[in-house]
Amino acid sequence: MKKITLLFLTSLLFIQCKKQPARPTGVVSDKAMVVSAREEASKIGSDIMAKGGNAFDAMVATEMALNIAYPFAGSIGGGGFMVYRKANGEIGSIDYREKAPLTAHKDMYLDSLGNVIPGKSTVGATAVGVPGGVAGLIEVHKKLGKLPLKDVLAPVIQLAERGFVVTENQAKRLDNVREKIIEVSGDSTLFAQKYVVGDTIKQPALANTIHTIAMEGHDGFYKGRIAKTLSTFIQANGGYVTEEDLAKYQAKWREPVVFNYKNLKVISMSPPSSGGITMNQIFKMIEPYDIASFGHNSTKTIQVFTEASRRAYADRNYFLGDPDFVSIPTEKLVSEAYLSGRMSGFSFDKATKSSEVERGNIEIVESMETTHYSIVDAEGNAVSVTETLNGAYGSKLFCEELGFFLNNEMDDFSSKAGVPNMFGLIGAEANSIEAEKRMLSSMTPTIVEKEGKLWIVVGTPGGSTIITAVAQTILNAYEYNMSMQDAVNAPRFHHQWLPDMVIFEPSGFSSALKASLKDKGYIINEERTPIIGKVDAIRILPDGKLEGGADKRGDDTAVGF
Ligand code: DON
Repeated sequence: MKKITLLFLTSLLFIQCKKQPARPTGVVSDKAMVVSAREEASKIGSDIMAKGGNAFDAMVATEMALNIAYPFAGSIGGGGFMVYRKANGEIGSIDYREKAPLTAHKDMYLDSLGNVIPGKSTVGATAVGVPGGVAGLIEVHKKLGKLPLKDVLAPVIQLAERGFVVTENQAKRLDNVREKIIEVSGDSTLFAQKYVVGDTIKQPALANTIHTIAMEGHDGFYKGRIAKTLSTFIQANGGYVTEEDLAKYQAKWREPVVFNYKNLKVISMSPPSSGGITMNQIFKMIEPYDIASFGHNSTKTIQVFTEASRRAYADRNYFLGDPDFVSIPTEKLVSEAYLSGRMSGFSFDKATKSSEVERGNIEIVESMETTHYSIVDAEGNAVSVTETLNGAYGSKLFCEELGFFLNNEMDDFSSKAGVPNMFGLIGAEANSIEAEKRMLSSMTPTIVEKEGKLWIVVGTPGGSTIITAVAQTILNAYEYNMSMQDAVNAPRFHHQWLPDMVIFEPSGFSSALKASLKDKGYIINEERTPIIGKVDAIRILPDGKLEGGADKRGDDTAVGF
């Protein structure tokens, strides 16, 4: 009897707690906020809004500032995706993903025996796709910005000239890749030098490039002096990007993926990112289960999430690619009938084997970089952006004259069907290489409405783990009523169909929990990666204030007013 009363009281408390929004534990601001991987970038974005700019102006300033203070993942030499929701509820998204050059073809990374040539799609000029970053930012600014471009970029140029201060994380990571950078770009380039914590790195060449973009817009980068210098440089190093490739590059507005999960409306990126569709599948496969009652990161919750992810990633790898080149059966993939059929073989007693969902055998490699930032302005416009060079410092090819690294995004294509890329993702025909095609991405910039109102802006880096990290952060806030900061900090796990293993962040999951999963046939891996993602998010509180969730796993910072 006592037990029953206790259970009743606990459930009552739980229901009660669920009704009350979680108390914020992250930085809170009254009106506007930027959460990004670097304090300098968050501050520049926030200042632009304080000067009367909107979230879209702040996007341009923040992303350009990240190119300077976070060269790990800068998009001038790379690309990205942005999802927005305006204060009036209007939504949209833009794709400024890199493209395969005009001379690219299906077998370009294979040797005469048809084997993938190691490194050719990941290191140096041969790995470089046509960059989309500048086209994306200029297009957003033209359509949605408020302040003149040169005013938005002025503080960014100053930052490049004044220099940014190296953090402990940056010093370590630079140290890890310095040898590779020297191998590809020589020992006299800016990032070939040894930097320690507290050093200031000034970037006059990049300041000059951004100045040209501020004055001449899209064409200042994709035509004329910069385009000539860049294409000549890439080709001199053995790569394929030509002046014609640059002149032809355009960012594309796309319809976002929109779906409901209980009383949430989730707005996320559509192909060529797999993020929106794959997350839609995961959420719809989870929805019939009451995971709140199972408990956060409990055996049963991890099982349901893992089994949904296993099935969604198997579809991702087979069906998804650039929608301008392949036809994607989206309606079928996200239909409830199809998804409930997919989960029908699942039982809480025993793990499904990925080999029974599809076949394959691969390895996963970690330590890659991308970055995400979230913005809300004083009017209530929200911007969610994930951008990348793919690997840390991309291809490691640094263009000294223009001041930035170039991407190695070509590796996000499937070089050969069934052979894993650097995230262990295996692809199929839908993501094979073709001239001017965009490579499939996992980036998942997302905005969530609750009962029709803006609630959360969220996203993360992390390669193939991006989709599951974003989904878990939303579930943490919604199902387990965590504050934004707690939802971001909570330990994460990941399953991507193949390799058939649940990857756990090494700290944060009990031995008993892992043992119970092992008993059910799950293969546990804690060695693959020390962290999963670096989520930067904003939650709109009931009184209209904003709570930042800046991931404790990095130097990420929320700044607002
Ligand atoms: O577009 C993608 O899915 C990858 N290029 C993202 C790379 C990434 O997130 C690396 N960061 N940790």
